[in-house]
Formats: sequence, C-alpha cells, structure tokens
Amino acid sequence: MKSFWAQWASRDPIKFGELYLTNRQILGSVDRWITADSVASSLWRYGVPEELTLPQKCQGDRTGLSDIEREITCSDALVFVGSLLSNLRYLEIGVSVGKNFLQICNQFRSAEIVGLDVEEINPVLLERLGGGDVIWRAPAESDVATLSGQTVPKRASLTQIRSTEGSISYLSADQFSEETWRRLAGRKFNLVFSDGVHSADALQAELQFLLKYDLIDRREFVMLWDDLLGRQMQSAFVDCAKSLCQMFGKGDDAISMFRMHGTYGLSRPMGMFVSL
Ligand SMILES: C[S@@+](CC[C@H](N)C(=O)[O-])C[C@H]1O[C@@H](n2cnc3c(N)ncnc32)[C@H](O)[C@@H]1O
Repeated sequence: MKSFWAQWASRDPIKFGELYLTNRQILGSVDRWITADSVASSLWRYGVPEELTLPQKCQGDRTGLSDIEREITCSDALVFVGSLLSNLRYLEIGVSVGKNFLQICNQFRSAEIVGLDVEEINPVLLERLGGGDVIWRAPAESDVATLSGQTVPKRASLTQIRSTEGSISYLSADQFSEETWRRLAGRKFNLVFSDGVHSADALQAELQFLLKYDLIDRREFVMLWDDLLGRQMQSAFVDCAKSLCQMFGKGDDAISMFRMHGTYGLSRPMGMFVSL
C-alpha cells in the first residue's frame, strides 16, 4: 500500500486542495442522487446497497450515497491525475448514479468523456448534465445478468449529452459484450476508471477489450481500479497493471495500491497504473 497524498497530492497541494473543494461543491449541489422509481426499474440498484441510501452521519468508515466524504476519494485522485494529462479522454466503466461521473464532467468541461454502465442513465444525472439524445440503439436485445440472479433482455443504447463544450456520452450496455467495446472503437482514452463488475474475470476482460479495440492512448495513460477486495481481485489488478507496464516500457514503480474512499461505501484498496 502507498499513500495517494504522499505520492501524488503532495506534488501540488494547493492545486489538489482546489480540486478537492470543487468536488465537494459539486456533490453539495445535488440534493438527491436517485429516485425510488429509478431504483425500482433498475437491474443492479445502480450498484448502491440499500443501507447506503441512508446518510451514514460520519459513523465509522462508511459513506452514504447522500454524504459528502471528507477523506480523499477516488474522484479527488482521478481529477488530480486527470489534470496532469494533456487533453482528458476519460472512460468510466460502471457509472452507477453518477456521483463520480458528475465530478469528472464538471471539472473537465472540454474533455471527451464516456460512461459505460448496464443501467439506463440515471435521470437525475442526465438532468444535471443538461439533457441528452439517444443517438444509437442496438438492433436487437441481448440477455444481461441482474442483481437478483436472473437474466433479462436488454437493448443497448448510446446517449449523447447536449453539452456545449467537449463531448459526454453514456453507453448503456453490458461490459461483457463484445458489441459494447466495438461501439467505442476509434476513441483513445488516456484515463480509465474500472468500477463496474468487481470480479477478476471482469478486470481481465476489460483490459483485453481495451487492447483489442485499440482504445488506449499509447502516449500517456492512467488507469484506476476500485474495490480491489481479496486476493483474486488484487492479482487480476497486478496482472493487468504489469501488462500495461510492458506495453509502456515501465517498471513496477508505475503500479501503486492505495486505501481510499469511493463515492459511497467503505474505504478499500484501489490500484493505479500511471505511464507518466
Ligand atoms: C460500484 S458501481 C459504480 C460506482 C461509480 N463509479 C461511482 O464511483 O460513483 C458499479 C456499477 O457497475 C454496473 N454494472 C453491473 N454489471 C454490469 C455489466 N455487466 N456491465 C456494465 N456495468 C455493470 C452497475 O450497474 C453499477 O452501476
């Protein structure tokens, strides 16, 4: 384990502090992240466990969905590292209600940003981003797994946000489907946040798809993996990060693990590869 503060934020604490504060202002501007209707019609409750829908009132280490975390979060880490890249081209795998996604979109207004999640875009997030238009729908439905253990038919779609600067898109699709990644072909991401399905297979598949569809910017690239709980997730992370080291001609010092908070839940290990 390393310290994000010591390794990154301390390089420019004033800049980090400004980004941190702006993230808190963005979070404070949203009263309610999701409606009961959206949860009821969701496949995975947008990844939000029921107990975290109540404020946690700073009890223990747990952040509720409506809470504003005071410790450094993955969003603070992403905006700080993102600010070191020349032109941000960002992919988030697993957007949930958009608590992290909104911070990225508001901090990088001229960036190219793509969110991928099996859920439909959270209407609260869509409204906060200024609305959007569905510009593509898959010709057919395909089966996707749900939280209840069932499979249901889903038709993938791509929504383009009507933002004036930059480009924000939301791909509502299954991360295990080849079609999903083919849709992204032609893009070159320099910052990827892996926060969708938390299994070793999912981590390996994501990297294989990123490579197969040539979605990685070979000049500069950062990837952050959330929720590295347990040996299997951690060894999948190390395998993926080592492949990236090989690709970028980097040594093990390009790989780090930090204990950090996400946008909700407990603090947990996260992993990072940085080619810079
Ligand atoms: C932990 S949440 C993401 C949290 C978000 N990145 C944040 O920081 O606020 C995980 C997300 O993965 C999504 N997910 C689950 N299965 C998926 C799949 N097969 N393909 C794409 N997304 C999936 C869930 O819908 C959920 O929204």
